Amino acid sequence: MPQLKNDRFLRALMREPVDVTPVWMMRQAGRYLPEYREARSRAGDFMGLCMNPERACEVTLQPLERYPLDAAILFSDILTIPDAMGLGLYFETGEGPRFRKRIDTPADVEALKVPDPEQDLGYVMNAVRTIRSELNGRVPLIGFSGSPWTLATYMVEGGSSKDFRKTKAMLYDQPEAMHQLLDKLAQSVTSYLNGQIMAGAQAVQIFDTWGGNLSADAYQKFSLAYMRKIVSGLIREHDGRRVPVILFTKNGGLWLESIADSGADALGLDWTIDMGAARSRVGSKVALQGNMDPTVLYAKPAAIREEVARILKSYGKGNGHVFNLGHGITPEVDPAHAGAFIEAVHELSAIYHDP
Ligand code: CP3
Repeated sequence: MPQLKNDRFLRALMREPVDVTPVWMMRQAGRYLPEYREARSRAGDFMGLCMNPERACEVTLQPLERYPLDAAILFSDILTIPDAMGLGLYFETGEGPRFRKRIDTPADVEALKVPDPEQDLGYVMNAVRTIRSELNGRVPLIGFSGSPWTLATYMVEGGSSKDFRKTKAMLYDQPEAMHQLLDKLAQSVTSYLNGQIMAGAQAVQIFDTWGGNLSADAYQKFSLAYMRKIVSGLIREHDGRRVPVILFTKNGGLWLESIADSGADALGLDWTIDMGAARSRVGSKVALQGNMDPTVLYAKPAAIREEVARILKSYGKGNGHVFNLGHGITPEVDPAHAGAFIEAVHELSAIYHDP
């Protein structure tokens, strides 16, 4: 494998010195880019992009052709695991993800099989190998998965949900079935992420998009406990280098101390928490990734720069900050505004690092 030409992202995750603060954007390959929309229509649909390693590689690299990003993220989706478990993922235009089958009873949970990464999710592993080879050491490649709790919400609801009615009912009425589901998902996520690491992912992120919807008590038992189990089962060193793990619980700001105790190297933060306050709460335990409100990108470049400057100042001098959005970039954003954001991070962060 070629030498990494830009390792700022991996260094910042390990809280090592960097020249400027590294930056990438959640959902950086996506519908705000005209070249993405074009590739998707050529592929027919979204899963047609994910399942073809050359196409997945092409869209992974699109944002890197436009912007000086410090990391690439695998183009795929968190719902590949439930799909491989036999639930039948499909996307209805404008409706978000749906499953043909959903998980309703303890017998449904009992029948679920833990997918084998190479056998059942080989298209993802092949995409990772293709992207690593095409990147040729430009920047590191991030692999990812959903958290068990977040995946369970889609599996029990049969798709996206506003109130998680069925999932919450299962959690409180049939906690043993919910624990069995989460346990199977934790095993699946562990081997899926280890498969991605063996295939070439140089850091991995767990997206716990819906963890913040739980009570403090339920978050510990039904989300964090399973992420902790995953972290303890991951390959942490590959090809002579540490493979950092990032946990992102959206709306998890109240529980940062316990998330920082999970064994992860870094925490992803949404924009509801102040960066400096988060840093003083976690101390030197973990690096922090975040946390600009993605809707700031609707404003003009001058306002975007001001917000970037404010967050950099709030984190302050020293190591351990990866700049990112607090959630995914939205389809309505002007690509030039995304460019202004990335440029601002690199330009304005130099004063916080030693030359
Ligand atoms: O960041 C990247 O560029 C890599 C690709 C990526 C996608 N999904 C591609 C995608 C990543 C990291 C994800 C993660 C994901 N998927 C999450 C966790 C992160 C988050 O946003 O909270 C979740 C909850 C999903 C599930 C999912 N996939 C939903 C709810 C939707 C529909 C809503 C939407 O954003 O369109 C998807 C579809 C999806 N995944 C698209 C992309 C680019 C849009 C598909 C399209 O219409 O082209």
